[in-house]
Order: sequence, then structure tokens, then C-alpha cells
Amino acid sequence: MKLFTVNNIIFPILIGNAWASYLLHNELIGKIKESEAIAIGAMSTNQEICHNKEHNIKKQDDLINLARKCGEIYGNLVISSNYQEKIVNLDDIEKIRGDFKVQDSSSIVSISAPKLDTIGGKFELKNLTSLISSNTGLLKNVKSVEFVTLPLLKEVSINNNIKKMNKIVISDTSLKSVDFFGNIEQANQVEINNNRYLGRIELKIETVNDKLNIYSNADDTNIQLPNLQSTGDLSIRNAGSFNLQNLEYVNKSLDIIENSITELNLKNLKKISGTAAIIDNSKLDEIHSGNLTHIEGGLLVINNDNLKIMDFLPAVHTIGGAVKYDGTFDEVSFPKLKVIKGGASFVTESKKFNCTALLNPFIERNIIRGENLTCTSNLKGEDKINQHNSSKISYRTLTSGSSQSTSTGKLSSNGTDHNESLTSISSTPQKTVSAGKMKNKNDAFRSSSVAVTNMIVWFLFPFLFFCTL
Ligand SMILES: *[C@@H]1O[C@H](CO)[C@@H](O)[C@H](O)[C@H]1NC(C)=O
Ligand SMILES: *[C@@H]1O[C@H](CO)[C@@H](O)[C@H](O)[C@H]1NC(C)=O
Ligand SMILES: *[C@@H]1O[C@H](CO)[C@@H](O)[C@H](O)[C@H]1NC(C)=O
Ligand SMILES: *[C@@H]1O[C@H](CO)[C@@H](O)[C@H](O)[C@H]1NC(C)=O
Ligand SMILES: *[C@@H]1O[C@H](CO)[C@@H](O)[C@H](O)[C@H]1NC(C)=O
Ligand SMILES: *[C@@H]1O[C@H](CO)[C@@H](O)[C@H](O)[C@H]1NC(C)=O
Ligand SMILES: *[C@@H]1O[C@H](CO)[C@@H](O)[C@H](O)[C@H]1NC(C)=O
Ligand SMILES: *[C@@H]1O[C@H](CO)[C@@H](O)[C@H](O)[C@H]1NC(C)=O
Repeated sequence: MKLFTVNNIIFPILIGNAWASYLLHNELIGKIKESEAIAIGAMSTNQEICHNKEHNIKKQDDLINLARKCGEIYGNLVISSNYQEKIVNLDDIEKIRGDFKVQDSSSIVSISAPKLDTIGGKFELKNLTSLISSNTGLLKNVKSVEFVTLPLLKEVSINNNIKKMNKIVISDTSLKSVDFFGNIEQANQVEINNNRYLGRIELKIETVNDKLNIYSNADDTNIQLPNLQSTGDLSIRNAGSFNLQNLEYVNKSLDIIENSITELNLKNLKKISGTAAIIDNSKLDEIHSGNLTHIEGGLLVINNDNLKIMDFLPAVHTIGGAVKYDGTFDEVSFPKLKVIKGGASFVTESKKFNCTALLNPFIERNIIRGENLTCTSNLKGEDKINQHNSSKISYRTLTSGSSQSTSTGKLSSNGTDHNESLTSISSTPQKTVSAGKMKNKNDAFRSSSVAVTNMIVWFLFPFLFFCTL
């Protein structure tokens, strides 16, 4: 009864509002259409052609004719492989309501649209192998820009006050700068790749809803995104330096791969909603991410050879996927970590890394919920703990129901027997793979499965020992 009363009041109000705004909208649109019709009627007698759904232009003369008749084109304007001339000039055309596409021509050298201020849809320049310049200096409204396979393109002008766009793709050009998008604040998708002279990318962008992807531009590209606050997927590769100092949320995954950066400053980052991958950044030796508390996907930190001390996640308490660290690191710490929902693997060539010291707290606090736990290093002197000579330790968790299930209750930190918790720990008799001789990193994984059959339950051992006393 109560619900009905509420609905009876709220519903008419909602409807009323929607209706009012609908009317208002229609009235406005009606007015705009009327005034446009008058303007166009006065300007040209041939207005029908301006309303064509699509214009496929074959030569410059057709463009001149079109421009004479229509200051505004209501459909798409397409210039493609039939066009044999060097110049595309849109002359007096001011608005294209649909898309403006120029594609698949090896003859076009320059495009200019000196009066064009609006493209209602996409502005696409694709596969124009001779194009050197595109001048649309007044263009201030455009939904998407795709500049793709324009290997000679050096010069682009766009009114650089565009604030919001759906999509920006700049791929395979000779551009040295993308300053013409310098004032964009919001976009759904930004992809900038394979522009071999693009040594500096500076964007004031604040939000990228879907994905921001920058890779394979000039060697050591300097990427400045000082205002970036939140993104969907964020991927940066092959950069020499970058600025993400204001980044707070990565709402999908983060990839920082094959960069020559020495420092990664993510001081304001709070949450990564997907997987974080920091891979093959060979010079990286410092990461600041002290405000990061949640990584909802996995965490991959692989082959960052200068990163010896992995203490850059002091505040992380939840990792939603698996964790994989691989490299030459000496130390890993997660002081606030409460849960890793997947498995974990730490493999390092280091002679200093102490698996026991890292994993004991994990085991005690039942942090790792996934199936597998592996740790391998070249530290000597762990013999007593492992009851054998090797310093390499492989831990492996098993599901209950196997012959080791008896140990389950004792090893589960909260005393329950459930299949996802750490149910058994083995140390591996490393007779075939002795300390210092391991060449293949996969040995760690292989030996851990051998360990299942040769199991020594090392947590149970002290326990039994205690009992015999
Ligand atoms: C690119 O344009 C040329 C014509 O200039 C055409 O022959 C070729 O098929 C186009 N390439 C692609 C991938 O569309
Ligand atoms: C990302 O998530 C945060 C927090 O939930 C939100 O404030 C922000 O608007 C989101 N950003 C994007 C680009 O989706
Ligand atoms: C966390 O963010 C605040 C606010 O930007 C900043 O002042 C502080 O230095 C950051 N803390 C760490 C540990 O990075
Ligand atoms: C490794 O860490 C454990 C637990 O903290 C400690 O007992 C052991 O002595 C350490 N091993 C070496 C070689 O430092
Ligand atoms: C755990 O390790 C085993 C053997 O190495 C492998 O077959 C299995 O797929 C792993 N499980 C997970 C969840 O990674
Ligand atoms: C190392 O292993 C050998 C044979 O495998 C054994 O004789 C020796 O006592 C072991 N050393 C230690 C410290 O466990
Ligand atoms: C023990 O942990 C498991 C999984 O984390 C949970 O389902 C269970 O309720 C916990 N039991 C107790 C007694 O806390
Ligand atoms: C663990 O898995 C086995 C086999 O899949 C199943 O029979 C058992 O009920 C499970 N135990 C728990 C506590 O979920």
C-alpha cells in the first residue's frame, strides 16, 4: 500500500517533468530548424542537394560546386580512392552535420577547410599515403577524430579549444605534436600510437571513460597528463617519462609496460578496478603509490630489473586476482594486505630474498585464497625450515579431498576446512634443481608439482615435534 502511495505522487511528477522538457525541446528544435531553413533558402536555391545523405566526391570541381550551393551539408562528405587530385579544399563549407571522411588515396597532399567549424560526426583521415597537411583551423565542434595511416602527415590545425570528444585516434603519422588537442578535458577513448616523431605528448585531459592508450611513438616519449583524474583502461608503453601525478582512479586495467622511466609517480592513485601490470621497465627503480588500497584484478610485476625493493604498495589491502612477481628483486612487502583472492607466485634470481619471511605472515593470516602459492629465490640457509639442503622453497596449496586433507584444519588460519584456503604447504626436495643452478624460471612451477607426491608438510612438522614432547 505504501509503495502505491509513493508511486502515485512521484510518478506524475516525473512524467510531468519529462513532458515539459519534451515540449521545450521540441519548441527549441522547431525554432532552430525554421531559422536555418530561412537562412539556407536565402543563400541558395538548390538546398535539396545539401540534404543528401552522402556526397561522394570525385574531383575538386565537385567540391567547389557543392560549396557554392551549401554552406552546410546535412549528410556525410566522403572523399575516397576515386579522387586523383593533390588538393582537397572545402572552400566555403562551414558545417558538416554527418561525417567528413577522406580515405584510400595516394594522390592527396593537402586538405583544407578554411571555414569549417563543425563536423557533427566523425572526422576521419585514413590511408592517405601522400598527405602532408590538414588545415581546419576553425574546427571547434567534432565528435571523433581518427587520423590513421598518414605516414607523411606533419601538420594539422584545429581550433585548439575543443573540450570534449568521443574518440581520438592518432596512429602512424609524422606528427611531432598533438597540441591541437591540448585543451581536451574529456573523452571516451584516446589512442596515440606509432607516430615515430612524436616525442612529447601533452594533454590537459581529466577523464577518459573507456580507454587511454599510448604506445610506440618516438623513443622515450615524454607524456604529460598532469590533470588526468580517472580512466577506464590505461596503457602506457615505450615512454621515456610520464606524468600521472593527479590520477586517482583506474576503473579498468592499468598497463605500464616497456617504458624507460626511472620513476613512477602514482601518489594520488586510490583504486585500480582491473589488473595492474608493471612489466619490462628496465630502468624503473622507484614507484610511489602510497594511497593505493584496492586492486580488484590481478597484480603482475615482472622483469623490472632495477626495482630491487618492492615496498611500493604500503596501503594495499585487497588484491582481487592472482599475484605474480618475477625478476631479480630482493625484497617484497605488503604491510596492510588482508587478502589475495587468487594464487600467488614470487620468483626471483636474488640471493637475498627470503621466501619464508614473506610467506609466513601470509600463511598465518590466511591471506592467500587462491589455489597455488609458489616462492623461489636463491637464498642459502633456509635448510632448517625446509628440512633439506636447498634454499629454494616452493609452496603449493592443495584442495581438500586429496590425501593431504587431514592437514587442512590445522593450516587454515581460522580453523575451517574450505577448499579455497591454504590447505597444505610443501617444501620441495631440490635434488635435481639445486641452489644457484636454476636456469629456467618455470622450474619453480614444475618442481612444485613434483612436490605434491614427495610432500613434507612443514607447518605440521613442528606441530608433531611438539606433540612428541
Ligand atoms: C590504401 O589505399 C590504397 C590506394 O591509395 C589502396 O590500394 C589500399 O588497398 C588501401 N589500403 C587499405 C588497407 O585499405
Ligand atoms: C571511476 O570511478 C570513480 C570512483 O568510483 C568515479 O568517481 C569516476 O567518475 C570514474 N571514472 C570513470 C572515467 O569512469
Ligand atoms: C596521498 O594523497 C595525498 C593527497 O593528494 C597526498 O598529499 C599524499 O602525499 C599521498 N600519500 C602518499 C603516501 O603518497
Ligand atoms: C628467513 O626468514 C625467516 C623468518 O623470518 C627467518 O627465521 C630466517 O632466519 C630467514 N633466513 C635467512 C637466511 O635469513
Ligand atoms: C596451480 O598449479 C597447477 C600445477 O602447476 C596448475 O595446473 C593449476 O592450473 C594452477 N591453478 C591455478 C588456479 O593457477
Ligand atoms: C644436505 O644433504 C646431504 C645429502 O643429501 C646430507 O648428507 C646433509 O646432511 C644435508 N645437510 C644439511 C645441513 O641438512
Ligand atoms: C573461515 O574463512 C572462510 C573463508 O575465508 C569463511 O568462509 C569462514 O566463515 C571462516 N570461518 C570462521 C570461523 O571465521
Ligand atoms: C571440497 O571439495 C570437495 C571435492 O570437490 C567436496 O567434496 C567438498 O565438499 C568441498 N569442501 C568444502 C568445505 O567446500
